[in-house]
Amino acid sequence: MPPIQTIWHIEPHTQAKHAILERYLKAWLPIMSRWNGRILYIDGFAGPGKYLDKNNRPIIDGSPLIAINAALKHKLPLHAEIVFIFIELDPRQCEHLKNLLTQINLPNNLKYEVMCEKFDETLSSILNYLDEQNKQLAPTFAFIDPFGYSDTPFSIIKRIMKTKKCEVLITFMYKDINRFLNDPDKALHFDSLFGTDQWRSIAQVNNSRERKRQIHELYHRQLKEEAKVKYVRSFEMINEFNQTIYFLYFGTNSLDGLKQMKAAMWKIDPYGAFRFSDRTDPNQAVLFEPEPNFILLEKTILTQFKGKTVSIEEIERFVLAETAFRETHIRNPILKPTENAGKIGVSGRTRKGTYPQGTVIQFF
Ligand SMILES: C[S@@+](CC[C@H](N)C(=O)[O-])C[C@H]1O[C@@H](n2cnc3c(N)ncnc32)[C@H](O)[C@@H]1O
Repeated sequence: MPPIQTIWHIEPHTQAKHAILERYLKAWLPIMSRWNGRILYIDGFAGPGKYLDKNNRPIIDGSPLIAINAALKHKLPLHAEIVFIFIELDPRQCEHLKNLLTQINLPNNLKYEVMCEKFDETLSSILNYLDEQNKQLAPTFAFIDPFGYSDTPFSIIKRIMKTKKCEVLITFMYKDINRFLNDPDKALHFDSLFGTDQWRSIAQVNNSRERKRQIHELYHRQLKEEAKVKYVRSFEMINEFNQTIYFLYFGTNSLDGLKQMKAAMWKIDPYGAFRFSDRTDPNQAVLFEPEPNFILLEKTILTQFKGKTVSIEEIERFVLAETAFRETHIRNPILKPTENAGKIGVSGRTRKGTYPQGTVIQFF
Protein backbone atom coordinates (compact mmCIF):
# COMPACT_ATOMS: atom_id res chain seq x y z
CA MET A 1 0.00 0.00 0.00
CA PRO A 2 1.28 3.48 -0.78
CA PRO A 3 2.10 5.38 2.41
CA ILE A 4 -0.30 8.15 3.32
CA GLN A 5 2.20 10.38 5.10
CA THR A 6 4.53 12.75 3.22
CA ILE A 7 7.71 10.98 4.33
CA TRP A 8 8.00 7.38 5.37
CA HIS A 9 10.57 5.02 6.91
CA ILE A 10 13.16 3.60 4.61
CA GLU A 11 13.24 -0.16 4.17
CA PRO A 12 16.36 -2.25 3.55
CA HIS A 13 15.33 -3.15 -0.01
CA THR A 14 14.89 0.55 -0.79
CA GLN A 15 18.40 1.17 0.51
CA ALA A 16 19.67 -1.63 -1.73
CA LYS A 17 17.84 -0.06 -4.70
CA HIS A 18 19.35 3.33 -3.87
CA ALA A 19 22.83 1.83 -3.58
CA ILE A 20 22.48 0.36 -7.08
CA LEU A 21 21.17 3.67 -8.44
CA GLU A 22 23.89 5.73 -6.78
CA ARG A 23 26.74 3.50 -7.84
CA TYR A 24 25.47 3.40 -11.39
CA LEU A 25 24.93 7.16 -11.70
CA LYS A 26 28.41 7.84 -10.37
CA ALA A 27 29.70 5.90 -13.38
CA TRP A 28 27.07 6.96 -15.95
CA LEU A 29 27.19 10.72 -15.39
CA PRO A 30 30.92 11.17 -16.14
CA ILE A 31 30.85 8.76 -19.09
CA MET A 32 27.83 10.42 -20.67
CA SER A 33 28.93 13.97 -19.96
CA ARG A 34 32.26 13.29 -21.67
CA TRP A 35 30.54 12.47 -24.97
CA ASN A 36 27.36 14.56 -24.94
CA GLY A 37 26.67 18.27 -24.56
CA ARG A 38 23.43 17.67 -22.72
CA ILE A 39 22.10 14.71 -20.76
CA LEU A 40 18.85 14.09 -18.91
CA TYR A 41 18.03 12.30 -15.70
CA ILE A 42 14.30 11.67 -15.44
CA ASP A 43 12.95 10.50 -12.09
CA GLY A 44 9.41 9.58 -13.04
CA PHE A 45 8.15 8.81 -9.52
CA ALA A 46 10.42 11.07 -7.55
CA GLY A 47 8.93 10.89 -4.04
CA PRO A 48 9.45 13.54 -1.35
CA GLY A 49 13.27 13.51 -1.48
CA LYS A 50 13.87 12.19 2.07
CA TYR A 51 13.10 9.13 4.16
CA LEU A 52 12.84 8.72 7.92
CA ASP A 53 15.59 6.76 9.64
CA LYS A 54 14.71 4.41 12.51
CA ASN A 55 14.72 7.31 14.96
CA ASN A 56 12.10 9.14 12.85
CA ARG A 57 14.59 11.68 11.57
CA PRO A 58 14.05 12.73 7.93
CA ILE A 59 17.71 12.43 7.04
CA ILE A 60 18.00 9.67 4.46
CA ASP A 61 18.19 10.82 0.84
CA GLY A 62 15.60 9.74 -1.69
CA SER A 63 16.37 9.16 -5.36
CA PRO A 64 16.29 12.84 -6.47
CA LEU A 65 18.97 13.82 -3.95
CA ILE A 66 21.00 10.73 -4.69
CA ALA A 67 21.03 11.70 -8.37
CA ILE A 68 21.85 15.38 -7.80
CA ASN A 69 24.60 14.50 -5.33
CA ALA A 70 26.11 11.97 -7.72
CA ALA A 71 26.65 14.87 -10.14
CA LEU A 72 27.50 17.50 -7.54
CA LYS A 73 30.04 15.47 -5.61
CA HIS A 74 31.80 13.97 -8.58
CA LYS A 75 35.55 14.46 -8.12
CA LEU A 76 36.16 15.93 -11.58
CA PRO A 77 33.92 18.66 -13.00
CA LEU A 78 31.25 17.30 -15.35
CA HIS A 79 31.18 19.44 -18.47
CA ALA A 80 27.84 18.51 -20.01
CA GLU A 81 24.65 20.31 -19.17
CA ILE A 82 22.81 17.87 -16.90
CA VAL A 83 19.07 18.39 -16.61
CA PHE A 84 17.20 16.59 -13.83
CA ILE A 85 13.47 16.20 -14.32
CA PHE A 86 11.60 15.12 -11.22
CA ILE A 87 7.97 14.09 -11.61
CA GLU A 88 5.85 13.51 -8.52
CA LEU A 89 2.08 13.34 -8.47
CA ASP A 90 1.38 13.82 -4.78
CA PRO A 91 1.24 17.59 -4.14
CA ARG A 92 2.63 17.40 -0.59
CA GLN A 93 5.52 15.18 -1.55
CA CYS A 94 6.18 17.32 -4.58
CA GLU A 95 6.29 20.50 -2.47
CA HIS A 96 8.54 18.78 0.04
CA LEU A 97 10.95 17.87 -2.74
CA LYS A 98 10.87 21.39 -4.18
CA ASN A 99 11.74 22.86 -0.79
CA LEU A 100 14.65 20.50 -0.32
CA LEU A 101 16.06 21.28 -3.74
CA THR A 102 15.95 25.05 -3.26
CA GLN A 103 18.43 24.57 -0.40
CA ILE A 104 21.08 23.16 -2.74
CA ASN A 105 23.51 25.37 -4.66
CA LEU A 106 24.05 24.05 -8.13
CA PRO A 107 26.71 25.00 -10.67
CA ASN A 108 25.43 26.52 -13.93
CA ASN A 109 25.54 23.29 -15.89
CA LEU A 110 23.25 21.43 -13.46
CA LYS A 111 19.58 22.29 -13.81
CA TYR A 112 16.43 20.75 -12.49
CA GLU A 113 12.71 20.96 -12.83
CA VAL A 114 10.13 19.52 -10.45
CA MET A 115 6.79 18.70 -12.03
CA CYS A 116 3.85 17.92 -9.74
CA GLU A 117 2.20 15.80 -12.39
CA LYS A 118 1.55 12.28 -13.62
CA PHE A 119 4.54 10.44 -15.06
CA ASP A 120 2.85 9.00 -18.15
CA GLU A 121 1.08 12.24 -19.09
CA THR A 122 4.19 14.37 -18.61
CA LEU A 123 6.42 11.98 -20.54
CA SER A 124 3.85 11.69 -23.32
CA SER A 125 3.69 15.45 -23.76
CA ILE A 126 7.51 15.79 -23.71
CA LEU A 127 7.83 13.02 -26.31
CA ASN A 128 4.96 14.41 -28.44
CA TYR A 129 6.59 17.82 -28.41
CA LEU A 130 9.92 16.35 -29.52
CA ASP A 131 8.18 14.37 -32.28
CA GLU A 132 6.47 17.51 -33.54
CA GLN A 133 9.83 19.27 -33.63
CA ASN A 134 11.40 16.28 -35.36
CA LYS A 135 13.86 16.05 -32.47
CA GLN A 136 15.12 13.18 -30.36
CA LEU A 137 15.25 12.86 -26.62
CA ALA A 138 18.72 13.80 -25.32
CA PRO A 139 20.66 10.84 -23.86
CA THR A 140 18.58 9.99 -20.81
CA PHE A 141 18.66 7.82 -17.74
CA ALA A 142 15.03 7.30 -16.72
CA PHE A 143 14.35 5.95 -13.25
CA ILE A 144 10.78 4.67 -13.19
CA ASP A 145 9.99 3.76 -9.61
CA PRO A 146 6.24 3.51 -8.98
CA PHE A 147 4.37 2.03 -6.02
CA GLY A 148 2.01 0.15 -8.31
CA TYR A 149 1.68 -1.08 -11.87
CA SER A 150 -1.06 1.12 -13.37
CA ASP A 151 0.91 4.21 -14.33
CA THR A 152 3.86 2.83 -16.26
CA PRO A 153 2.56 1.99 -19.72
CA PHE A 154 4.94 -0.02 -21.81
CA SER A 155 4.31 2.33 -24.74
CA ILE A 156 6.15 5.11 -22.86
CA ILE A 157 9.13 2.87 -22.11
CA LYS A 158 9.25 1.89 -25.75
CA ARG A 159 9.20 5.54 -26.83
CA ILE A 160 12.02 6.46 -24.42
CA MET A 161 14.13 3.56 -25.66
CA LYS A 162 13.66 4.60 -29.29
CA THR A 163 16.63 6.88 -28.68
CA LYS A 164 19.51 4.45 -28.55
CA LYS A 165 21.47 6.42 -25.95
CA CYS A 166 18.61 6.27 -23.43
CA GLU A 167 18.52 3.86 -20.52
CA VAL A 168 15.81 2.80 -18.10
CA LEU A 169 15.77 1.45 -14.57
CA ILE A 170 12.27 0.22 -13.83
CA THR A 171 10.70 -1.01 -10.60
CA PHE A 172 8.39 -3.80 -11.74
CA MET A 173 5.97 -4.41 -8.87
CA TYR A 174 5.88 -8.19 -9.14
CA LYS A 175 4.03 -8.94 -5.90
CA ASP A 176 1.03 -6.77 -6.73
CA ILE A 177 1.07 -7.74 -10.38
CA ASN A 178 0.99 -11.42 -9.47
CA ARG A 179 -1.72 -10.83 -6.91
CA PHE A 180 -4.10 -9.07 -9.29
CA LEU A 181 -3.27 -10.89 -12.51
CA ASN A 182 -6.55 -12.81 -12.40
CA ASP A 183 -8.70 -9.78 -11.60
CA PRO A 184 -10.77 -8.98 -14.73
CA ASP A 185 -11.10 -5.33 -13.64
CA LYS A 186 -7.34 -4.91 -13.97
CA ALA A 187 -6.98 -6.47 -17.43
CA LEU A 188 -6.55 -3.19 -19.28
CA HIS A 189 -3.85 -2.08 -16.83
CA PHE A 190 -1.93 -5.27 -17.53
CA ASP A 191 -2.29 -4.88 -21.30
CA SER A 192 -0.80 -1.43 -20.88
CA LEU A 193 1.93 -2.46 -18.40
CA PHE A 194 3.20 -5.35 -20.52
CA GLY A 195 2.45 -3.79 -23.91
CA THR A 196 0.86 -7.09 -24.94
CA ASP A 197 -1.99 -9.37 -23.90
CA GLN A 198 0.31 -12.39 -23.57
CA TRP A 199 0.12 -12.13 -19.77
CA ARG A 200 -3.38 -13.64 -20.04
CA SER A 201 -2.05 -17.16 -20.51
CA ILE A 202 0.22 -16.73 -17.47
CA ALA A 203 -2.84 -15.89 -15.37
CA GLN A 204 -3.88 -19.55 -15.91
CA VAL A 205 -0.62 -20.88 -14.41
CA ASN A 206 -1.12 -22.07 -10.83
CA ASN A 207 2.37 -23.22 -9.90
CA SER A 208 3.77 -20.14 -8.15
CA ARG A 209 7.41 -20.62 -9.20
CA GLU A 210 6.49 -21.17 -12.81
CA ARG A 211 4.12 -18.20 -12.73
CA LYS A 212 6.86 -15.98 -11.37
CA ARG A 213 9.31 -17.23 -13.99
CA GLN A 214 6.85 -16.52 -16.79
CA ILE A 215 5.84 -13.06 -15.55
CA HIS A 216 9.50 -12.10 -15.19
CA GLU A 217 10.35 -13.57 -18.57
CA LEU A 218 7.49 -11.81 -20.36
CA TYR A 219 8.53 -8.33 -19.23
CA HIS A 220 12.16 -9.12 -20.05
CA ARG A 221 11.14 -10.32 -23.51
CA GLN A 222 8.98 -7.26 -24.12
CA LEU A 223 11.90 -4.98 -23.30
CA LYS A 224 14.17 -6.87 -25.66
CA GLU A 225 11.84 -7.66 -28.53
CA GLU A 226 9.16 -4.99 -28.43
CA ALA A 227 11.18 -2.02 -27.12
CA LYS A 228 14.29 -3.32 -28.95
CA VAL A 229 16.55 -2.88 -25.94
CA LYS A 230 19.84 -4.63 -26.58
CA TYR A 231 20.79 -5.52 -23.01
CA VAL A 232 18.39 -6.19 -20.15
CA ARG A 233 19.33 -7.22 -16.59
CA SER A 234 17.08 -7.56 -13.61
CA PHE A 235 17.56 -7.66 -9.87
CA GLU A 236 15.11 -9.27 -7.44
CA MET A 237 14.05 -7.60 -4.19
CA ILE A 238 12.68 -9.82 -1.43
CA ASN A 239 10.87 -8.64 1.70
CA GLU A 240 11.21 -9.81 5.29
CA PHE A 241 8.52 -12.47 4.69
CA ASN A 242 10.64 -13.97 1.92
CA GLN A 243 8.31 -12.76 -0.83
CA THR A 244 9.53 -11.15 -4.03
CA ILE A 245 8.19 -7.61 -3.93
CA TYR A 246 9.64 -6.30 -7.14
CA PHE A 247 12.23 -6.73 -9.85
CA LEU A 248 14.42 -3.85 -10.91
CA TYR A 249 14.86 -4.03 -14.67
CA PHE A 250 17.72 -2.21 -16.28
CA GLY A 251 17.70 -1.66 -20.03
CA THR A 252 20.49 -0.20 -22.14
CA ASN A 253 21.94 -0.41 -25.63
CA SER A 254 25.44 0.17 -24.35
CA LEU A 255 27.76 -2.68 -23.34
CA ASP A 256 29.61 -0.19 -21.18
CA GLY A 257 26.33 0.71 -19.44
CA LEU A 258 25.64 -2.96 -18.84
CA LYS A 259 29.16 -3.39 -17.45
CA GLN A 260 28.63 -0.56 -14.95
CA MET A 261 25.18 -1.77 -13.91
CA LYS A 262 26.45 -5.30 -13.35
CA ALA A 263 29.21 -3.87 -11.17
CA ALA A 264 26.56 -2.01 -9.13
CA MET A 265 24.35 -5.09 -8.80
CA TRP A 266 27.22 -7.45 -7.89
CA LYS A 267 28.20 -5.01 -5.15
CA ILE A 268 24.80 -5.50 -3.55
CA ASP A 269 24.77 -9.25 -4.13
CA PRO A 270 28.35 -10.58 -4.08
CA TYR A 271 27.07 -14.09 -4.82
CA GLY A 272 25.89 -12.96 -8.25
CA ALA A 273 22.33 -14.21 -7.83
CA PHE A 274 21.06 -10.67 -8.55
CA ARG A 275 18.89 -10.76 -5.48
CA PHE A 276 18.60 -8.84 -2.21
CA SER A 277 16.54 -9.89 0.78
CA ASP A 278 15.39 -7.76 3.71
CA ARG A 279 16.10 -10.87 5.77
CA THR A 280 19.82 -10.46 5.24
CA ASP A 281 21.35 -9.19 8.44
CA PRO A 282 24.11 -6.82 7.45
CA ASN A 283 25.67 -7.11 10.93
CA GLN A 284 25.93 -10.87 10.86
CA ALA A 285 29.50 -12.14 10.60
CA VAL A 286 30.13 -14.16 7.48
CA LEU A 287 32.14 -17.37 7.81
CA PHE A 288 33.36 -17.27 4.25
CA GLU A 289 33.83 -14.33 1.95
CA PRO A 290 31.19 -14.71 -0.73
CA GLU A 291 32.69 -15.77 -4.03
CA PRO A 292 31.17 -15.97 -7.50
CA ASN A 293 30.56 -19.46 -8.85
CA PHE A 294 33.73 -19.65 -10.94
CA ILE A 295 33.23 -23.36 -11.66
CA LEU A 296 30.03 -22.47 -13.48
CA LEU A 297 31.67 -19.61 -15.37
CA GLU A 298 34.57 -21.80 -16.48
CA LYS A 299 32.17 -24.45 -17.73
CA THR A 300 30.08 -21.84 -19.56
CA ILE A 301 33.11 -20.28 -21.28
CA LEU A 302 34.67 -23.62 -22.24
CA THR A 303 31.37 -24.87 -23.67
CA GLN A 304 30.72 -21.66 -25.60
CA PHE A 305 34.14 -21.46 -27.24
CA LYS A 306 35.15 -25.14 -27.53
CA GLY A 307 37.28 -25.66 -30.67
CA LYS A 308 37.28 -21.92 -31.51
CA THR A 309 39.93 -19.22 -31.59
CA VAL A 310 38.59 -15.89 -30.31
CA SER A 311 39.80 -12.53 -29.05
CA ILE A 312 39.68 -11.55 -25.39
CA GLU A 313 37.22 -8.84 -26.41
CA GLU A 314 34.83 -11.48 -27.77
CA ILE A 315 35.03 -13.43 -24.49
CA GLU A 316 34.34 -10.26 -22.53
CA ARG A 317 31.36 -9.39 -24.69
CA PHE A 318 29.93 -12.89 -24.26
CA VAL A 319 30.40 -12.94 -20.49
CA LEU A 320 28.91 -9.48 -20.04
CA ALA A 321 25.97 -9.84 -22.38
CA GLU A 322 25.05 -13.50 -22.07
CA THR A 323 25.91 -14.51 -18.51
CA ALA A 324 25.38 -13.16 -15.02
CA PHE A 325 29.14 -12.66 -14.55
CA ARG A 326 31.33 -9.59 -14.87
CA GLU A 327 34.29 -8.91 -17.13
CA THR A 328 36.48 -8.82 -14.00
CA HIS A 329 35.75 -12.51 -13.41
CA ILE A 330 37.43 -13.68 -16.59
CA ARG A 331 41.20 -13.34 -16.39
CA ASN A 332 42.67 -14.44 -13.06
CA PRO A 333 39.84 -16.73 -11.94
CA ILE A 334 39.28 -18.51 -15.27
CA LEU A 335 41.86 -17.92 -18.01
CA LYS A 336 44.95 -18.26 -15.84
CA PRO A 337 44.08 -21.67 -14.36
CA THR A 338 42.71 -22.99 -17.66
CA GLU A 339 45.92 -21.92 -19.40
CA ASN A 340 48.03 -23.57 -16.69
CA ALA A 341 45.95 -26.73 -17.13
CA GLY A 342 46.68 -26.71 -20.87
CA LYS A 343 43.01 -26.27 -21.87
CA ILE A 344 43.68 -23.11 -23.91
CA GLY A 345 46.46 -21.68 -26.05
CA VAL A 346 47.23 -17.96 -25.88
CA SER A 347 48.88 -15.63 -28.41
CA GLY A 348 49.08 -11.90 -29.14
CA ARG A 349 50.44 -10.83 -25.75
CA THR A 350 53.91 -10.07 -24.46
CA ARG A 351 53.73 -11.40 -20.89
CA LYS A 352 52.58 -14.83 -19.75
CA GLY A 353 49.68 -14.83 -17.33
CA THR A 354 48.25 -11.58 -18.71
CA TYR A 355 45.37 -11.18 -21.16
CA PRO A 356 45.40 -7.57 -22.39
CA GLN A 357 43.23 -6.26 -25.22
CA GLY A 358 44.38 -7.90 -28.46
CA THR A 359 45.07 -11.29 -26.84
CA VAL A 360 43.84 -14.24 -28.88
CA ILE A 361 42.74 -17.45 -27.18
CA GLN A 362 42.44 -20.85 -28.71
CA PHE A 363 40.07 -23.22 -26.91
CA PHE A 364 41.14 -26.87 -27.34
C1 LIG B 1 8.27 4.36 -4.67
S1 LIG B 1 7.89 6.03 -4.44
C2 LIG B 1 9.25 6.85 -5.14
C3 LIG B 1 10.47 6.80 -4.36
C4 LIG B 1 11.63 7.55 -4.97
N1 LIG B 1 11.84 7.18 -6.36
C5 LIG B 1 12.89 7.25 -4.19
O1 LIG B 1 13.54 6.24 -4.50
O2 LIG B 1 13.23 8.01 -3.28
C6 LIG B 1 6.65 6.34 -5.65
C7 LIG B 1 6.22 7.79 -5.74
O3 LIG B 1 5.43 7.96 -6.90
C8 LIG B 1 4.40 8.90 -6.64
N2 LIG B 1 3.36 8.67 -7.67
C9 LIG B 1 2.31 7.83 -7.64
N3 LIG B 1 1.68 7.83 -8.83
C10 LIG B 1 2.36 8.66 -9.64
C11 LIG B 1 2.24 9.05 -11.00
N4 LIG B 1 1.27 8.56 -11.78
N5 LIG B 1 3.13 9.91 -11.52
C12 LIG B 1 4.14 10.42 -10.75
N6 LIG B 1 4.30 10.10 -9.44
C13 LIG B 1 3.43 9.22 -8.90
C14 LIG B 1 4.00 8.59 -5.23
O4 LIG B 1 3.37 9.73 -4.65
C15 LIG B 1 5.35 8.25 -4.59
O5 LIG B 1 5.94 9.40 -4.03
